[in-house]
Amino acid sequence: MTARTIQQLFDLSGKTALITGGSRGLGLQMAHALGEAGARIMLSSRKADDLEQATAELQAAGIDARWVAADCAKDAEITRLADETLQRMGDVDILVNNAGASWGAPAEDHPVAAWDKVMNLNVRGYFLLSQVIAKRSMIARRSGRIINIASIAGLGGNPAEMKTIAYNTSKGAVINFTRALAAEWGPYNINVNAICPGFFKTKMAMVLIETLGEEAMAAHAPLRRLGDDEDLKGLCLLLASDAGKHITGQYLAVDGGVSAVTGG
Ligand SMILES: NC(=O)c1ccc[n+]([C@@H]2O[C@H](COP(=O)([O-])OP(=O)(O)OC[C@H]3O[C@@H](n4cnc5c(N)ncnc54)[C@H](OP(=O)(O)O)[C@@H]3O)[C@@H](O)[C@H]2O)c1
Repeated sequence: MTARTIQQLFDLSGKTALITGGSRGLGLQMAHALGEAGARIMLSSRKADDLEQATAELQAAGIDARWVAADCAKDAEITRLADETLQRMGDVDILVNNAGASWGAPAEDHPVAAWDKVMNLNVRGYFLLSQVIAKRSMIARRSGRIINIASIAGLGGNPAEMKTIAYNTSKGAVINFTRALAAEWGPYNINVNAICPGFFKTKMAMVLIETLGEEAMAAHAPLRRLGDDEDLKGLCLLLASDAGKHITGQYLAVDGGVSAVTGG
């Protein structure tokens, strides 16, 4: 076999990617990355207006993008998201499980309802969507990529003194979910990997960043910076493309080095 060029290995032409939580933040950044590499994009999140706007932004960049509104904390909505995506796009080659939520409260006072809400979306949602997409589109074709967005909060106790026990627990679970699923589905040629972002200025992280201050947050990182609108693009594309076809069951932090200090 003649080895392909690096451009060919990173090319996603003819591939379809489904990205949850794709209407803004890290999900939209990854949608740009995969779309710019040639993939057709299906975005999902709950709010139609935001999805419409995000899709228009991708289309303006020359990307074939569509959307389906769905709540990934609800079983029936996950099934409907899979139904609509498969009907409108054909097969799904790349699934990015990214929709996530957090809740801030000291562990001793953390509401149980908030624990359930976080775990339902961040762990159960990833599992159910992976299951339905793999069963209906990846296993039979012996082909698929699943990228789970975890966090450095899943690697260590408490980066930046976050009082988010359910969130940290859920992200730790996502990392081992990734490894277990990679072990089970490797024989089906489905690669499953996780990305652990550090601190990025998105809606979810803004409360923490505004409370602690941007400079203080950046000071946790050896590179002395927060993540920006480009920093997840490279790793996401590597894990989605043939350039990463021998990588599975792995997690990598994109965090300016925070986890190098905290030991994650
Ligand atoms: N920002 C960071 O510093 C950071 C660090 C580590 C990990 N992460 C992880 O990165 C992922 C994306 O977060 P982000 O920072 O980009 O946050 P964000 O800007 O707040 O975006 C969250 C996305 O998820 C969607 N979403 C929320 N609840 C949902 C639900 N129940 N069902 C479907 N979609 C839902 C939101 O849209 P709707 O509200 O319209 O549904 C939005 O599209 C999360 O898994 C998060 O834990 C972020």
